[in-house]
Amino acid sequence: MRLVTAAALCSAAAFAGFSAAAPLIPRYDSPAAMGYPNPNDAQLKAIQNLADGTLSNAPPPPKLEPSSLTAFQLIAFNEEFEVAFFSSLIENITNSVPGFDLPSQEKKDELLDILETVLAQEELHAINAIKVLEHFNAFAPMPCQYRFPTTNVYDAIALAETFTAVVLGTLQDAAQLLATNGDAGPVRAVASVIGQEGEQEGFYRILLAKKPSEKPFLTTSTAPFAFSALQAFVVPGSCPFPLSKIDLPIFQPLAVLTGRDGADVGPSDQTLTFSANLTGVQPAKTYVGGNGNGLYITYLTGQNLPISEAITNVRWNGDTITFDAFFPFTANVMQGLSIAALTTGSNFATADDIPAATLAAPGLIQVNDKVKAWDAI
Ligand SMILES: *[C@@H]1O[C@H](CO)[C@@H](O)[C@H](O)[C@H]1NC(C)=O
Ligand SMILES: *[C@@H]1O[C@H](CO)[C@@H](O)[C@H](O)[C@H]1NC(C)=O
Repeated sequence: MRLVTAAALCSAAAFAGFSAAAPLIPRYDSPAAMGYPNPNDAQLKAIQNLADGTLSNAPPPPKLEPSSLTAFQLIAFNEEFEVAFFSSLIENITNSVPGFDLPSQEKKDELLDILETVLAQEELHAINAIKVLEHFNAFAPMPCQYRFPTTNVYDAIALAETFTAVVLGTLQDAAQLLATNGDAGPVRAVASVIGQEGEQEGFYRILLAKKPSEKPFLTTSTAPFAFSALQAFVVPGSCPFPLSKIDLPIFQPLAVLTGRDGADVGPSDQTLTFSANLTGVQPAKTYVGGNGNGLYITYLTGQNLPISEAITNVRWNGDTITFDAFFPFTANVMQGLSIAALTTGSNFATADDIPAATLAAPGLIQVNDKVKAWDAI
């Protein structure tokens, strides 16, 4: 769908009596109209102008290990979701869809101006990952169809803030993996994207009246948790490829039932309630109907070692388990994002050891350090 094209803007400017020689301001167009995800040279130039920068012109790395390529497949899969999300958000704000009205025209202009650049930047992140994969003749995932749970601008920005926090954790995992694989080449570029997404995150947080810098060391995540979380936004069966082409597990969702579904948990030691449907989860079979002995909620928070808490108060409804687990806020200062997994073990040495013992994940928990913000929506 076409929004504001350069031509429309140009004729509007001419109509308003502006000089026809006025420089053409690049304006947002729908990703498809910009040729995304396979733009031609002219389309790529237009995206780069909107994005305030270009793709890297450095040569590709000499080799990438298979698991490094999987990391780029996940990056492409995620960035393609982000492109769809921000493009839907821009359309909703542009068209003043109910719930997406802003308090003033100035606020609307500001937000659109910023989000249109973010969108072009996300398009380049996706295109970069696709080009890396194509260079190595590896499978490059193309966009799926997406569904978003948000129906107002506040919730949409809150969701963007949450998925960007997960991305900020997952790109740490990608950098670590590349280093472990001896694939130093792309590490600098991944680090540059971590900073870039962090800049976005600070802006979303200010809009939500949260302090822009979330934690001294941002919460880490793992590729399987990110891939699983993204499934919530993919229309089932809509990807133009089997999901198994990306060699990562997809876990059953872990719902956080406390604190507005985990989006607003208070800053205190407390018991949280979780739920997961374990139908079809083979390693869960021996636990179904039991009292939860040997099961844990394992948290990732900041750069701490994984924290495991035994689950309690277990209830079953068929294969669906509902239970409680302690949230050790005070000892760990769990402000910002924490990521929970239902695990069959505890005492994990690293975040990357958790997925092999996971039954359902990720549960996303946000503790919001609020501030009196001047620019909140
Ligand atoms: C845009 O609005 C539609 C209709 O309310 C909604 O279903 C969709 O989730 C919104 N998009 C975003 C990104 O919130
Ligand atoms: C759990 O998932 C299975 C398979 O998707 C489904 O048939 C069942 O209805 C679900 N249970 C609940 C309580 O939602």
